[in-house]
Amino acid sequence: MKKTVLVSGGAGYIGSHVTVELVEAGYDVVIADNMSNCDDTCLRGVREITGRDLPFYRMDFCDAKAVEQLFSDVRIDAVIHFAAYKAVGESVAEPVKYYLNNLTSFLNVLDAARVHGCNVLFSSSATVYGEPDKLPVTEESPRQSATSPYGNTKQMCEDFLRDSVKAYPEKIRGIALRYFNPIGAHPSALIGELPRGVPNNLVPFITQTASGIRECLSIFGNDYPTPDGTCQRDYIDIVDLAKAHVCAVRRMLDGKMESGYEIFNIGTGRPVSVLELVNTFERVNGLKLNYRFAPRRAGDVTAIWADPSLAERKLGWKAGRSLDETLKSAWEWEKHIRGIK
Ligand code: UFG
Repeated sequence: MKKTVLVSGGAGYIGSHVTVELVEAGYDVVIADNMSNCDDTCLRGVREITGRDLPFYRMDFCDAKAVEQLFSDVRIDAVIHFAAYKAVGESVAEPVKYYLNNLTSFLNVLDAARVHGCNVLFSSSATVYGEPDKLPVTEESPRQSATSPYGNTKQMCEDFLRDSVKAYPEKIRGIALRYFNPIGAHPSALIGELPRGVPNNLVPFITQTASGIRECLSIFGNDYPTPDGTCQRDYIDIVDLAKAHVCAVRRMLDGKMESGYEIFNIGTGRPVSVLELVNTFERVNGLKLNYRFAPRRAGDVTAIWADPSLAERKLGWKAGRSLDETLKSAWEWEKHIRGIK
């Protein structure tokens, strides 16, 4: 029998790409989203790419009754939880909003999983490592105290999952995937990132600068102790990232886990500086970007990249798309949504 995967936040950037990969891998997918931070662009894109009209529930995961109802109505074998707020700066300004939303929604998922029995995949973040002492970071690298409420919710939700698996081993198995910096878009250019307002993240800011929506990209800091003075990150292609979810779901559903709760880094293992990323974007797309150096951004770590070898060994997953391809796809998506030829 086909297994059913619930994707909370499935209309968003990562959720929509994961939905596509799950469908292509043969899973039945149910999407749920309250549409608070997106329009239906990616839902329409998913429909076009998969050729399927997937079941969609417009609902808020903070609504415990609605979550319970969904799990009662539909037999869900695994849930992938994306439904959360994700702006680091906003979380500092509005911590209560972030804690209420991100913690409540995940607790409701765990409660339903506890009652109905369900595998749970949590979308965590490399932010849990803070400013690492040693690079690259492995899953054993210590978590550092979070520098934002957003980061804190990632750590807390990981702990909620770990403790729930321990308490209800017959009901819940869990995997947390710690994403590094997801970028790019689906090769069809039908789904991608749609930030509201001024983008906080680098690649959407770059593509909006290239399309003329933003006048100039500020590169935050060129005096870091890195080879070119700009921060280094591990930029992971969104389709590669989505495929990691399929591998993790398969591992849970096929009973391949070695313990009830597992954690995997999802990155490329390759550090890329801001300047390198900008230069690559310009080169592969044949564009010149207007940029200037600006002061450091508060809260940025100097450098972080993954040791992704555990995911390769246990999930059979490895990043495949090159940075060139990924940055081309980011620009194709920007052109698609702006109607640029
Ligand atoms: N950057 C710029 N200019 C911009 C935007 C970003 O120079 O306009 C730089 C940043 O200073 C940083 C790099 O580009 O060096 C990457 O910044 P992003 O905002 O794209 O990504 P972060 O590494 O800051 O953010 C990631 C995830 C978050 C997570 C955060 C933890 O996207 O979800 O790490 O710090 F919470």
